[in-house]
Amino acid sequence: MCGIVGYVGKSHAKEKVIDGLKRLEYRGYDSAGIALPIDGRIQIRKHVGEIKNLEKIIGAPEFDSAVGIGHTRWATHGAPSDVNSHPHGNGDNSIAIVHNGIIENYQEIKEWLIRDYGVNFKSETDSEVIAHLIGIFYDGDLLEAVNKAVAEMRGAYAVCAIAAAEPDKIVAVRKDAPLVAGIGKGFNFIASDIPALLKYVRQVYLIENNETVVLTKDDIVIYNEEGRKVKRDVFNVTWDADAAEKEGYEHFMLKEIHEQPKGIFETLTRRINDDDSINLDGISMTKEDIEGFNKVYIVACGTAYHAGLVGKLVIEKMAKIPVEIDVASEFRYRDPFVDENTLFIGISQSGETLDTLAALREAKRKGARILSVVNVVGSSVARESDDVFYTWAGPEIAVASTKAYTTQLVCMYLLGLYMGRTKGTIDEAYYHKVLADLKALPDKVTALLKKEDDIAEIARKYHRREQVFFIGRGLDSGVSYEGSLKLKEISYINSFAIAAGELKHGTIALMEEETLVFALATQDFLYEKMVSNVEEIKARGARVIGVAKEGRTEIEKVADEVIYIPDCIDEVSPVLAVIPLQIFAYYVARERGCNIDKPKNLAKSVTVE
Ligand code: G6P
Repeated sequence: MCGIVGYVGKSHAKEKVIDGLKRLEYRGYDSAGIALPIDGRIQIRKHVGEIKNLEKIIGAPEFDSAVGIGHTRWATHGAPSDVNSHPHGNGDNSIAIVHNGIIENYQEIKEWLIRDYGVNFKSETDSEVIAHLIGIFYDGDLLEAVNKAVAEMRGAYAVCAIAAAEPDKIVAVRKDAPLVAGIGKGFNFIASDIPALLKYVRQVYLIENNETVVLTKDDIVIYNEEGRKVKRDVFNVTWDADAAEKEGYEHFMLKEIHEQPKGIFETLTRRINDDDSINLDGISMTKEDIEGFNKVYIVACGTAYHAGLVGKLVIEKMAKIPVEIDVASEFRYRDPFVDENTLFIGISQSGETLDTLAALREAKRKGARILSVVNVVGSSVARESDDVFYTWAGPEIAVASTKAYTTQLVCMYLLGLYMGRTKGTIDEAYYHKVLADLKALPDKVTALLKKEDDIAEIARKYHRREQVFFIGRGLDSGVSYEGSLKLKEISYINSFAIAAGELKHGTIALMEEETLVFALATQDFLYEKMVSNVEEIKARGARVIGVAKEGRTEIEKVADEVIYIPDCIDEVSPVLAVIPLQIFAYYVARERGCNIDKPKNLAKSVTVE
């Protein structure tokens, strides 16, 4: 997500801040900016695109200061643009801020500031309200003004603020967004992430929720919510910069696997209101639109396509509307049946996949309504769609997609529920049952991730296999495809997924002694049939790893190993069932010494045909 770096010292703040921002580049961003108090004024420079664009406009070396704050932005409110980039100033730039997170009540604050103070907003961001709020409360004491501003704000934030009249300090505050203070000699740092600081400091204070911190070149003072000074133990960073970027995980893929509870939580909470209704804020689809669609077409590539496989069954079941699904590279060349009554759903993590973009354009040309499910705000797919349903997975760096997939699934459920409730094709009891199970997912995924060591053990046992099958029925069939893709893309094992009932029509010919098969059996109403399928392949000598819900132990009688996922209704089990498959793929690849985050021949974003 976004990155924050602040520096307070004797001089050369610009260089330190830019350097810190560069250390955060790996996380992905769409624009960057810096604010420096120089000669009684705050100078703000910001630019869309890479930091090198910013470097071109930050002036001569002497255009520098002893204090500076900088930011790399990953757009949330407002597309990537110069004006939406951070830092944001108040009207006369006597205050500047950088912000990570989201201010939930920014609209309310904005209206109030316009009405009562005639504030002129420059950007479309939620963050700009913070600069104006601090400006309005400022009376010579930045700490006090920040505290007053924070009292008006709801949401999640890490904020760093500077004031032209106090050019020797940074005041920072956090709630549900990380912030660390780096302890130097004659200088201090503040940042959203440790890698930004590591070139200069090894000792940090980890700032906790609702704490405010005042940094000057010789001091770091932390205050709690009641305004009392807090003593914090020094945290010694022992990792190198590379490990720090991965927050101690060996690979981005593993880090991202572990970020799934957060991504799922974020994607859900942004769309569920206090009264448990689903809000499609920013999506202009009306009841009439939904009732007017006679078909949904889901189009995507790779992992996103696999999310669509689940989405198809979910939307059909809930909204009672036929859903077709296709890979984008096929869709675009086969004159598909699409018209103005079609809802086209394009799914893409990056929003830049060329085939998906071309398919979207083709559907648009035929008059379809375009809704995209995208992770990267302001990406091409997002820009060219009528509406965007964003996933909140945060930047995904490993080529093998994990957290984007599970958040895409969450979007599919929310869409299905919303359309079904709007059309009256699901009853209230069912709606609330599914919603309750969705809300329970972050905790259940967290619980499942605790089985990592057991799954790693299974991976160690089988990592030398050169062929693995994945089978499942119903929703499990879609998850099988994703499990198979994860394994092949990072371990280079020849893996193959097939609907379990289809095995007997050919693929079973490949089953022999020790053939390894993952059998997904998480669908209660298909459980017995899956157990029979497992029996069929066991009879041919296959080795079977079952994935089943807790309490469904029948499969133990036929499978060699069983990985249990937390109990849930059938509909939402894909979000859980995929987790062991991701972990298995990861540890198999690790055992085989593969380049996990950057597998051979693959790219994170395929922008060519
Ligand atoms: C590439 C990546 C996959 C990804 C696919 C679609 O092949 O390696 O991980 O699923 O593109 O990418 P998108 O960004 O459109 O979801």
